[in-house]
Amino acid sequence: MAIAAWSGLDSMSNMDDALYLQWKTLLEDRTGMILPNERRSFLTTSLGIRMREIGFTDYQLYYEHVLNGCEGAIEWATLVDRLTVHETRFFRHMASVEMLRELVLPQWMSEDEPPGTIQCWSVGCSTGEEPYTLAMVLDHFRETDYCQYYFGITASDISLASLATGRKGVYHSRKLRDVDAVLRGKYFRRVSDTHFEVNEALRKRVCFAQLNVLEMEHVPIGKVHLIICQNMLIYFDRKRRIEILNNLVEHLLPGGVLILGAGEILGWQPPIIEKIEFNDTLAFRRLPSA
Ligand SMILES: C[S@@+](CC[C@H](N)C(=O)[O-])C[C@H]1O[C@@H](n2cnc3c(N)ncnc32)[C@H](O)[C@@H]1O
Repeated sequence: MAIAAWSGLDSMSNMDDALYLQWKTLLEDRTGMILPNERRSFLTTSLGIRMREIGFTDYQLYYEHVLNGCEGAIEWATLVDRLTVHETRFFRHMASVEMLRELVLPQWMSEDEPPGTIQCWSVGCSTGEEPYTLAMVLDHFRETDYCQYYFGITASDISLASLATGRKGVYHSRKLRDVDAVLRGKYFRRVSDTHFEVNEALRKRVCFAQLNVLEMEHVPIGKVHLIICQNMLIYFDRKRRIEILNNLVEHLLPGGVLILGAGEILGWQPPIIEKIEFNDTLAFRRLPSA
């Protein structure tokens, strides 16, 4: 299949510098994703494969098609999925999980009035492994530590195909390699030799929704206790990262926590938040008074 797709690229028109810049700019304006010149062949190949699937041989004509009305918008959704990186897995960043278990949750539970409901938001959730990891941690913690709270997780991404995978909740065993035996037994059901399904109770705790982080002004998400945003900001330039982060902290409740990927932003700390010090993590707490 890959060979057929490649050989089909022979019939494609060339992508000259002007056309490349046009595509690169469109991608950057609409998704924020910066495509360095070294990735030019990734862009031309990905576009070429998609164009061949739907019968285009000219990059310019396909570009006009993508900009054209409803049909263009539908095609754009497919294309974005092809051009964005969706690499993820359960318990991808263990240090952040440990911080939640050892620091954040115990601290919330020790407050005079611990939250009765913990609302979370996984931003750039890809195919769902990150929000389900969070759901397992929250569910298991409340049972083993005898805490009484309810929780809900909103999981958002720009890619409709990734969100559909998350909603289905069926994963190859490869993705589960960091899920320990206790959690695997508790939250997954084997559905074939190679695949596992997240159990229904956990799936019900996670709500998947499409959201472009560049369009956060009218997001129907209120204030939450926890935001996790890992391995997404790395595709944006510094200016956009800061804009996105400033918007995200506005969605934190006082005392709420923002977890990023280690090293994903340097020198950013608006006055309403403080840094949380915990091994190999990058996280901030919104000040209780803010
Ligand atoms: C590498 S995945 C990260 C998945 C997960 N957070 C993790 O750490 O494993 C990056 C995700 O960011 C999403 N993304 C890229 N640009 C976006 C945008 N403008 N708005 C929302 N999501 C975006 C991609 O679709 C992709 O699923």
